[in-house]
Amino acid sequence: FNTANTDYYRPIYHHTPLYGWMNDANGLVYKDGEYHLYFQYNPYGSKWGNMHWGHSVSKDLIHWEHLKPAIARDTLGHIFSGSSIVDHNNSAGYGKDAMIAFYTSASDEHGQIQCMAYSNDNGRTYTKYEKNPILTPFDGLKDFRDPKVFWYEPAQKWYMIVSADKEMRFYSSSNLKDWEYLSGFGKGYGVQPNQFECPDFIQLPVDGDKNNMKWVMIVNINPGCMFGGSATEYFVGDFDGKEFKCDTKPEVTKWLDFGKDHYATVCFSNTGDRIIAVPWMSNWQYANATPIRQYRGANALPRELSLYTKDGQIYMAANAVKETEALRKDTRNIDDFAVKGEYKIDEIVPQTDGAYELEMDVTPDKAQVVGFDLLNAKGEKVKVYLDMKEGKLVADRTESGIVDLARHGEMNVHEKETDDHRKTMSVNYKNDFALGTWAPLSLCEGKTYHLNVFVDKCSVEIFVDGGRIAMTNLVFPTQPYNTLRFYAENGEAQISNMKIYKLGL
Ligand code: FRU
Repeated sequence: FNTANTDYYRPIYHHTPLYGWMNDANGLVYKDGEYHLYFQYNPYGSKWGNMHWGHSVSKDLIHWEHLKPAIARDTLGHIFSGSSIVDHNNSAGYGKDAMIAFYTSASDEHGQIQCMAYSNDNGRTYTKYEKNPILTPFDGLKDFRDPKVFWYEPAQKWYMIVSADKEMRFYSSSNLKDWEYLSGFGKGYGVQPNQFECPDFIQLPVDGDKNNMKWVMIVNINPGCMFGGSATEYFVGDFDGKEFKCDTKPEVTKWLDFGKDHYATVCFSNTGDRIIAVPWMSNWQYANATPIRQYRGANALPRELSLYTKDGQIYMAANAVKETEALRKDTRNIDDFAVKGEYKIDEIVPQTDGAYELEMDVTPDKAQVVGFDLLNAKGEKVKVYLDMKEGKLVADRTESGIVDLARHGEMNVHEKETDDHRKTMSVNYKNDFALGTWAPLSLCEGKTYHLNVFVDKCSVEIFVDGGRIAMTNLVFPTQPYNTLRFYAENGEAQISNMKIYKLGL
């Protein structure tokens, strides 16, 4: 594992594999002071293929130690996405507190089937269950994958939710090996993708009130993102141990993140009251063509999820975990200022390596538009602004640097694959990348908006009002953005309590 970094765009403080390809976070589980992050991994190249479960561990969700791949591809096929649990009661018979992983084996020959493997050495190595698979689709579905297993207290049983083409299916089990079908949910709900992927099912208090718990189904859809490609939606409702009932009408869609690079988001198990999610920071439209060679794929910052009420509806906030505060190496306080026309901060961080956080309160007052450009000396920029007429927060990367990923993709090792991929997906990498994403400001309380903006080499993650809006986007500037140009239109806006943090591990 002595792999020196050779990629300019490798993030400083986000999790990436040392080499090889990474997509979805898998098997997220906390045990004995360690967060385990397994992930869809190709150890043989920086494009999708040969799927294994890669493995990293962390004590604080920020500093990651890279370990050997934990589960390797076998004769049942690729090791696709899934989850892990700590078997506190020895339900499966592999010992008290054994770690058990559930994944999809995928091959043309056997289709998509659910399998399990157990570990008695704190998740370092796994033994596959000799009678795999543990679950196959009763109706021969082609798309049947990404099992998430969780303990359902009222029934004193393990439950599994699996994405099954146009719906999610619930199963229950006492021994983690024999699974009984309960129900399906999802047909006709939210934005309908080709098929659902990577579901999760979590319970959270509404507005912090533990007497008012709600179930949330997280599902990842591809395509279906408002801005094209992959995205994460969620449904809030109730669960009676058999069926999930969504609070809202089928046509209502709630998004967990309003950027274009947020996918396959699932949560850690065994973290008590905290629900912590990890999104993969890319989009299937162009994930294989990003201007990176040695490795490909990064995870967005881990996020803590919570439910809040707005206008009689329950929404889920996703805020960067508080552990990210330990990344702050240097703090610069900026005096409060008014923006009328333009206001510039010339050096965000002296000699920046492109890793920093901006924190501020933005009060638009009478301004109809207020925002800032993250700029570099070449004029490449990301525009972040509040459009009060439209009621939108916008992050626009049209002029952010390298946007024609196809052209750059030609530098990729597997050129042919890129061409084929381009044809089959009928993707226009430039148009799919060079765009703005937006979120409705109605999710916030209004008047003043609290922004935390994390920049890390090739990403801009925006959190507004503790994650009521989360917006995650990749960007490829040819040198770091190091100027902030604030502007306001049709009126004066106020920026207060602003801080710039240099971030590092
Ligand atoms: C989502 C996904 C999963 C699948 C995995 C394969 O990004 O398509 O549904 O298990 O990736 O790598």
